[in-house]
Amino acid sequence: MTDQRQTALDYAHQHKTDFLQTLQELVALPSVSTDEQHNLDMQRTAEWVATHLKQLGIVNVRIMPTEGHPVVYGEWSELPDKPVVLIYGHYDVQPVDPIELWRTGPFTPTIVGENLYGRGVSDMKGQVMATLNALEAIAHAGTFPVNLKFLIEGEEEIGSPSLGKFIEENKDLLKSDMCLNTDAGLIGKDFPTITFGLRGLAYFELRVYGPDHDLHSGLAGGVVHNPAQALAELIAAMHDQNGRIMLPDFYDSVRVLTKEERDDFARLPTTDDDYLDQMGVKELWGESEYSASERIGARPTLEINGMNSGFTGKGQKTVLPAWAMAKISCRLVPDQDPKVVFEQLQRFLTEKAPKTIRWELEKLSGAPASITDLDQPGVKAIAAALYSVWGVRPFYRREGGSIPVVSQMQTILKIESVLTGFGLPDDNLHAPNEKLHLPTWYRGIDTLIHFFLNI
Ligand code: BES
Ligand code: MN
Repeated sequence: MTDQRQTALDYAHQHKTDFLQTLQELVALPSVSTDEQHNLDMQRTAEWVATHLKQLGIVNVRIMPTEGHPVVYGEWSELPDKPVVLIYGHYDVQPVDPIELWRTGPFTPTIVGENLYGRGVSDMKGQVMATLNALEAIAHAGTFPVNLKFLIEGEEEIGSPSLGKFIEENKDLLKSDMCLNTDAGLIGKDFPTITFGLRGLAYFELRVYGPDHDLHSGLAGGVVHNPAQALAELIAAMHDQNGRIMLPDFYDSVRVLTKEERDDFARLPTTDDDYLDQMGVKELWGESEYSASERIGARPTLEINGMNSGFTGKGQKTVLPAWAMAKISCRLVPDQDPKVVFEQLQRFLTEKAPKTIRWELEKLSGAPASITDLDQPGVKAIAAALYSVWGVRPFYRREGGSIPVVSQMQTILKIESVLTGFGLPDDNLHAPNEKLHLPTWYRGIDTLIHFFLNI
């Protein structure tokens, strides 16, 4: 092992406590991107990240405005003959509700056993800090081995709506050879993982209107079509018995899995029973002709993310509500287009909605799926790094989550992403009691030290 590598690893091992404290500082900042009330926190979090980059010796650090939340940019480019690695991260987090189910404050990062609890610890403030810690260790042991650029955004958790335009407008500034993206997680703590497929997303809000105000359900029930019922009927018609989505032409552009791809899925270590455990349900659901990992990695879905109508407080109230709404989103696979899926849902509603109600459909965000090229130097560097730390060859998988920037970088910057990460499937992402498994996180820091020195 080279001196720099060993010195950097030693430094990382000696500074575990400092790294953890710094992560706790970042997690304490409530950077919830979807909630305007947190706009000032978003700015503060961007400033915290910028300050940390400067401390690492990164130059030209800037907080760059977008149409939404700002991007933190920085660079280090003292090796003109070496590749440029663009480090992607997001400093925003999901909302904390239902807050009453958290055992510790979401923004009071707390260590319990081997885990750190707090919103964003795993998705993805911990991952951002693992990268910055690895770079700190490398810098302590010498100079950076490659050129670096940083794009740390604040809108990933709302679908990166302003990022495409930002990347387009800053193409030259962001010009790089590859992107390191640690937002993709591991299959399990003993299974180092490289992700090469992500699903896309198309997110909608559907509102159904009936009478112009809430009615007495005794005086109106039986003659007025209840909007909550009408919405439920529409939603129920969106799937058939086998979990197939009934929007017109929905499957026309869905790329069919090849025999080789299905064999790859079958070789993954996760079985349908593991999913049963992980998800905490009695039985799995969905298209029966596909395995659970195929359904998650390579089949599209339509999901009800939330519904609201009428009286939902304590006690009872006999009301026939004036309106009902649902948040609906589709996970997309290659080669579906979010705009086309929006039109398909519109057509479905035009054909199926009864005359008794009025409906409105709003498109909230859209991002296509992505498949990344595994035949690239960055993937070799991370595969070797994962092997050095875990002593196990990494698994290659397609994941069901979405990271819009991956396809934005492919189409606008023409670069591929190296997708990995050190979050686990039971980290409670987007849910109460989000956690980060610290032993796995420390392995992640070591892995990233190897990665940068392998390139
Ligand atoms: N890190 C996740 C996505 C993820 C999770 C990928 C686990 C692989 C494994 C990311 O931050 C996320 O949650 N993205 C949102 C994006 C959406 C709002 C466009 C998602 O998938 O819901
Ligand atoms: Mn997320």
